[in-house]
Amino acid sequence: MSAAGDVLYLDHAATAPLAPGVFAAMQRALLDTSANPASLHAPGRAAADEVAAAAAGLAGLVNARPRDLIWTSGATESINLALKGAAEFAGGDAHVVSVVTEHSATLDTLDWLEKRGARVTRLGVDDHGRLDLEALDRAIADGATLVSVMHVNNETGVIQEIAAIGDLCREHGVALHVDAAQSLGRLPIDMDAMNIALLSVSAHKIGGPKGIGALFVRPRTGIAAQLHGGGQQRGLRSGTLATHQIAGFGAAADHVAATRGEEQARLGALRDRLWGQIDSLEGVMRNGAPAQVAAPFLNVSVAGVHGEALLIGLTEGTPALAVSSGAACSAAKGQSSYVLRAMGRTPREAGASIRFSLGANTDDATIEQAGRRFVAEVERLRALAPAA
Ligand SMILES: Cc1ncc(COP(=O)(O)O)c(C=O)c1O
Repeated sequence: MSAAGDVLYLDHAATAPLAPGVFAAMQRALLDTSANPASLHAPGRAAADEVAAAAAGLAGLVNARPRDLIWTSGATESINLALKGAAEFAGGDAHVVSVVTEHSATLDTLDWLEKRGARVTRLGVDDHGRLDLEALDRAIADGATLVSVMHVNNETGVIQEIAAIGDLCREHGVALHVDAAQSLGRLPIDMDAMNIALLSVSAHKIGGPKGIGALFVRPRTGIAAQLHGGGQQRGLRSGTLATHQIAGFGAAADHVAATRGEEQARLGALRDRLWGQIDSLEGVMRNGAPAQVAAPFLNVSVAGVHGEALLIGLTEGTPALAVSSGAACSAAKGQSSYVLRAMGRTPREAGASIRFSLGANTDDATIEQAGRRFVAEVERLRALAPAA
């Protein structure tokens, strides 16, 4: 289905609809394998088997070992555990090197750590949103204990060169944490080959349920627990496992493992078609170099319109476009997208930006209608306020 009612959903980076098999797996775990997976009796062992199967599927997606996986409540918690856990382990020497365009789950955690005495280096990006590896090299050489870089940016879809960053970290003997919330199921991830020590992922971005994520921790990576209690998950994250959420995550991981290559090629072609339609407008700029942007993403800045008016016009007109804007996230703070400003966009360009993110329920008809609707809305707003 391309549209739910009169809404064309193009916000899969915010969250994705349930993938096939996910609901059934969750129902099975809730009704049939509902015991506590930490219990030693037969029903408990059946629940533990459900968890183990999900862990195997998810670990297979990123070339990790199932036993390196810690279940969390989502990528936000995984990132908190990785950054705070590694900093606590490093003690007074903690020095985290990261990037100004990271998700707020990382940026706010870094601020928190800094207030408590950790050293934090925040590196900038170029006009295409990419990290300069020479600057990273210098920052690591200055006593880094952890490097934290997102794989795919949630606003722009810009892909960082994780394999090269992993090589640098290997040379310096420093651990690398990767926020893979937006790359899981979209790009190949190989924790071993990419030298990733810590990897944060989230189920709801790949068609699993909300409220479940994972942190992969490779052997010999030092992190301290941040949640204490029953000692589950080798003491690194206490709390009874949410078996139905985990089963749903496992089913979503199996689905993307089976469909990723073909699906990403399909979405890339649709995204290019959408850009083809939008590009017919004057004064529209694509953010991120196309070859360095993940297939489902298209982020555009539009000249001559007010950003908020554009977002409201698109999301509230008919058919409504469920799209988002980095500016909207920080609108409460009265700021335009910090990601786009870091890429050298003016506040006005960064303010009038729209993110389209495609996914399983995007088809030719959705793209055709969305493109037409976007062009018409920009033209309407420009006609209303030509000098804006
Ligand atoms: C890049 C990135 N990191 C982290 C998160 C946080 O994920 P979660 O919603 O699972 O806490 C998101 C989701 O918005 C994201 O896009």
